[in-house]
Amino acid sequence: MGDGASLFYLRIFFLCSGFPLLLFSHSVPTPINLHGLRSISFDEGYTQLFGDSNLMLLRDGKTVHISLDERTGAGFASVDLFLYGFFSASIKLPLDYAAGVVVAFYMSNGDVFEKNHDELDFEFLGNIRGREWRVQTNIYGNGSTSLGREERYRLWFDPTEDFHNYSILWTTNRIIFYIDNVPIRELARTEAMGGDFPSKPMSLYATIWDGSTWATAGGRYKVNYKFAPYVAAFSDLVLHGCDVDPIDHLSTCHDKQDGLYNSISITPKQRSAMQSLRRKHMIYSYCYDSERYPTPLPECLADAREAEQFEGAGSGRSGYRRRGKHHHHRAQAVPATF
Ligand SMILES: *[C@@H]1O[C@H](CO)[C@@H](O)[C@H](O)[C@H]1NC(C)=O
Ligand SMILES: *[C@@H]1O[C@H](CO)[C@@H](O)[C@H](O)[C@H]1NC(C)=O
Repeated sequence: MGDGASLFYLRIFFLCSGFPLLLFSHSVPTPINLHGLRSISFDEGYTQLFGDSNLMLLRDGKTVHISLDERTGAGFASVDLFLYGFFSASIKLPLDYAAGVVVAFYMSNGDVFEKNHDELDFEFLGNIRGREWRVQTNIYGNGSTSLGREERYRLWFDPTEDFHNYSILWTTNRIIFYIDNVPIRELARTEAMGGDFPSKPMSLYATIWDGSTWATAGGRYKVNYKFAPYVAAFSDLVLHGCDVDPIDHLSTCHDKQDGLYNSISITPKQRSAMQSLRRKHMIYSYCYDSERYPTPLPECLADAREAEQFEGAGSGRSGYRRRGKHHHHRAQAVPATF
């Protein structure tokens, strides 16, 4: 019931949301409202990657549950590759005891460019009961895996209680990570970064997997399958970018859309919100880890106030851990334990 009607509204919505783009496509791009973009159903943009019945669609296919149990984790990926754009999901993390559990929402092209891949990550690290989940962001460009650019934050809400939006804006000259529409990290491209700034088409991924060996206190707390299944819910899926043909890697949009995304910047109000969140909730940044990087990486513009907060923190304070080969969990299921 209502299929015709909902299709009708979908079309109307599509027309409305596309209208400003068409209108201004020949002049200077007007800023788009990133946080009002149309969300898609799973089937419109994504496909299951692994985990057989541990991926479940709900609510007309607009919400996806992926779960981890003793047999397997689960994951999905976008059908298309994208070169720049805005990508978002609203995510609710597994309840209760979740030590060793890792949920990731990220972009990568690891299976297309094995030696020089790019990657943009949100990673959620489970914890023992009563301790909060932590979120990590990271960036790799053109195979820069020896240079991690991790930042970690304590969340200022309980991410297991409700859905929250996690979004990535990726343009030719900057990358912004947002949580609930507030920017939490901005990377402006510098010439010195060279290929370390991601600039090849990537797909979107969402996975849940067993990170027992490193995720919680460096592997001290493992996944306890007594509490399984661990369920992560994804909704409000937004894939708004230049899609690229997976075979010939030709993009359909080029300059017009690049301009559209490049016109987005952080407003003064957003910037002060970002600075405040970072001061209160960031627990690690590679920019201030002088033990690991005696000379900070080139894009680490000194934010004097932020630097002061992290002065002398070194890697001791960070709890930084390399998580090993990242893309393996794309195809790899957790080995059966029973
Ligand atoms: C998350 O994004 C969706 C769609 O863009 C929006 O409807 C919702 O209000 C947002 N939620 C939060 C917590 O910002
Ligand atoms: C990326 O890596 C490839 C292979 O290592 C290299 O040939 C290319 O010049 C690099 N690109 C940039 C922009 O640094």
